Amino acid sequence: MNMAASPGSFLLATFLGLISLVSSDKFLCNQPASSAETIYKFGAADINKSRNISFSEYQGKVVLLEPEGNGTEILHALQYVRPGNGFEPNFQMMEMVDVNGKNEHPLFTYLKKYCPPTSDEFEDGLFYSPLKVNDVRWNYEQFLVDRTGKIRMRYHHHTDPSALAGDIDSLLREGEPEIEMSNEIPTHRLH
Ligand SMILES: *[C@@H]1O[C@H](CO)[C@@H](O)[C@H](O)[C@H]1NC(C)=O
Ligand SMILES: *[C@@H]1O[C@H](CO)[C@@H](O)[C@H](O)[C@H]1NC(C)=O
Ligand SMILES: *[C@@H]1O[C@H](CO)[C@@H](O)[C@H](O)[C@H]1NC(C)=O
Repeated sequence: MNMAASPGSFLLATFLGLISLVSSDKFLCNQPASSAETIYKFGAADINKSRNISFSEYQGKVVLLEPEGNGTEILHALQYVRPGNGFEPNFQMMEMVDVNGKNEHPLFTYLKKYCPPTSDEFEDGLFYSPLKVNDVRWNYEQFLVDRTGKIRMRYHHHTDPSALAGDIDSLLREGEPEIEMSNEIPTHRLH
């Protein structure tokens, strides 16, 4: 494998409840408080392009973004941490987009702008340009966005989704929890 998550479909998950604390391979992002940038000005089509989704639909929610995400795996990992207890993930598979290179989706330009890279190295055989230091290194890197739409944490692709539970929990505690039921569990992916 020599992919660096470019291009790939991506997964957007929102978290509306409370879960427990475990460690993770985490990189704190550094968007200044004075910056008003959020994910809400961006959008993308859903995975079968049947709907254009504005990320402003996710206002007030903790959002996890993962290129080539597998919602079923994330759901299982996080439910295993603490089943029930008001935790209600809601998954949406998005269209295939470039996450690096000259055609990268502006959402990923924003997500990477304030977050350190998860590795000092690039894989061999990358097929996009230009290479930038903050590029997504591999599919399954994960980006965690807070309830105000700002990027807060980025995770190495080896991080198991269940290791994000503690961070999701803290971000949820920054605002009032809401409960939302959803059946938007993805049943397919591009490849
Ligand atoms: C596209 O996906 C949505 C859910 O994301 C589903 O409701 C819809 O039936 C799908 N349409 C097609 C044509 O597959
Ligand atoms: C989504 O937006 C694009 C670009 O504006 C447009 O071409 C496309 O028809 C839209 N798709 C849907 C399902 O509304
Ligand atoms: C997601 O991961 C599970 C477990 O590894 C696998 O069985 C399933 O086929 C994957 N789903 C998709 C849509 O790739």
